[in-house]
Amino acid sequence: MNTKLESTPPDQRKATTRTVAMPADTNPAGDIFGGWVLSQMDIAGGIAASQRAQGRVVTVAIDGMSFIKPVRVGDILAVYTSVTRTGRSSMDILIEAWVRRGQIGSREKVTQATFTFVSVDENGGALALPPIDQVPAYDNDTL
Ligand SMILES: CC(C)(COP(=O)(O)OP(=O)(O)OC[C@H]1O[C@@H](n2cnc3c(N)ncnc32)[C@H](O)[C@@H]1OP(=O)(O)O)[C@@H](O)C(=O)NCCC(=O)NCCS
Repeated sequence: MNTKLESTPPDQRKATTRTVAMPADTNPAGDIFGGWVLSQMDIAGGIAASQRAQGRVVTVAIDGMSFIKPVRVGDILAVYTSVTRTGRSSMDILIEAWVRRGQIGSREKVTQATFTFVSVDENGGALALPPIDQVPAYDNDTL
């Protein structure tokens, strides 16, 4: 089994965003654009990163992007995040997107990637992350 595609243990990841794939986001074949899914992952990663940084963040890298299964119109796309590494100002966020087919159907993982975000100041320069004990806790029920 490809370990890069293993899921984060559910207790370590946070349900960060949830939305519905709409017809406006399709390609001519009727499937949802990969770029739309990627942008949903970037939005969720940005939320997780800014909560860890307690401030403004920018995306600097996307690693190991895997499109595993297609997303279709009407699917509910849920994006899960977990902070897997922190440096001085940078952090890696493992991001997984899952769908519920036809809004109520079976649940499948559709994409996974590790995004790197950097905490930045008001001028866009790298800013040290706060110590973890200065970051307020939040959980899956308080989006
Ligand atoms: C993020 C940014 C401010 C960093 O500036 P910089 O001069 O490289 O700053 P530094 O060299 O001090 O690096 C800061 C941190 O970013 C990390 N970093 C920078 N570029 C990186 C990359 N491509 N991949 C992974 N990490 C990176 C560094 O390793 C460092 O991490 P650390 O503080 O945890 O040790 C700058 O690269 C930037 O503004 N990039 C554009 C981001 C952006 O606009 N994103 C949206 C695109 S639409």
